[in-house]
Amino acid sequence: MLTRRSFLTSTVPVGAALATFNAAGLPRVLEAAAGAEGRTADEVARDEAFWREIQQGFTLDRTIVNLNNGGVCPSPRVVHEALKRYLDVSNQSPVYHMWQILEPNIEAVRRNLARVAGCDPEELAITRNASEALQIAQLGIDLQPGDEVVTTNQDYPRMLDTWEQRARRNAVKLVKVSFPVPPPSLADLAQRLEAAVTPKTKVLHFCHITNLTGQIFPVRDICRMARAKGIRTIVDGAHAFAHFPYAIRDLECDYYGTSLHKWLLAPIGTGFLHVRRELIKDLWPLTPANVSLTENVRKFEEIGTHPAAMHNAIAEALVFHEAIGIDRKVARLRYLRGRWADALKGFARVRVLTSPDPAQSGGLACVGIEGIEPGKLSAHFWDRYRLIVTPIKHAEFEGLRVTPNVYTTLPEVDLFAEAMAVVAQKGLPGTT
Ligand SMILES: Cc1ncc(COP(=O)(O)O)c(C=O)c1O
Repeated sequence: MLTRRSFLTSTVPVGAALATFNAAGLPRVLEAAAGAEGRTADEVARDEAFWREIQQGFTLDRTIVNLNNGGVCPSPRVVHEALKRYLDVSNQSPVYHMWQILEPNIEAVRRNLARVAGCDPEELAITRNASEALQIAQLGIDLQPGDEVVTTNQDYPRMLDTWEQRARRNAVKLVKVSFPVPPPSLADLAQRLEAAVTPKTKVLHFCHITNLTGQIFPVRDICRMARAKGIRTIVDGAHAFAHFPYAIRDLECDYYGTSLHKWLLAPIGTGFLHVRRELIKDLWPLTPANVSLTENVRKFEEIGTHPAAMHNAIAEALVFHEAIGIDRKVARLRYLRGRWADALKGFARVRVLTSPDPAQSGGLACVGIEGIEPGKLSAHFWDRYRLIVTPIKHAEFEGLRVTPNVYTTLPEVDLFAEAMAVVAQKGLPGTT
């Protein structure tokens, strides 16, 4: 976690740091963090004075209660201001200001991202989102007809579509494993994936944390099992990075893709791909690159002309993120999740599909009311309360996905719990 002193001596580039320091919001966040020193993350999670400082760092529409931070998130003011500043600089003369001044600074972003992600910068490519990152791995691995890919039926639909296309195009076989929500244990998840593996399996693709119920997977155990059998692992970390603490190097996976416009709160249109160094050479980029880049992770960034402002403002998002501190952040997200889940405990028709075990979940959780269709429930919440949650309809379960964020207030979370309690008791208006 950054204190004010360590922030000033951190590896963030000086220009970026000064600009950020001047931006409204961050000094108050740093002040709050300095005041929180010496207290546990769980204590700070319950300290509303601390979180008020974080909340004022955003320019939100507070007439809307946004509990869908799983889709895409607003950036804090310091990030959005930086993005606009970089766009203004670019537009003076993009061939000079964007290509020559801003673009080379992607290397500082790579360095800082790798530091926070716990990996080597030479293994990290900055992408436009998690989809692009994961598709580079999914479409760039050489596979032969008959080769098998094992995934789950709760992986992200676009990633499953990508494998389905490979199945149609390259005659690979796709195997989708089912699992209960919540599962009986983390070991159960690993066993299910292992049981689906055959001598023809070449790739295992699964989420670090699922987008449907927020189930965290035992990534390292699965990757070790796969490595021992010569199987490559692709981990979908779209919801993991900057949500809960881990270091990519400890996961022992081969390819890891994430979004940065979710939990890192970076500009919309940012993500990264991590590729284990010895595998870079043999992974084909999605957009072809010069042969001289074959062993260079930057080959995955050869996408043609694009706005440098997006990826450069990731630097400010990292500063904001580190000012809060990942341990405090996840403790707060779990506290908010626990607050609405606990309030709904006494209601027989309410079923939370996410384990409260911190090893298995963070701030993202899924909850249903027996007999109430989630699409109708979320529409009712929007109409009545201007409250946004995400209806989830999976072939094996359904519910509402609830994702608060660091800017979420207690009254906002309580409103959701109260709204659920009313429907759990009385049903939807006009239907009982
Ligand atoms: C699990 C998972 N994987 C991948 C993605 C794709 O992310 P993006 O839209 O940033 O490409 C998402 C988006 O919600 C997701 O939830």
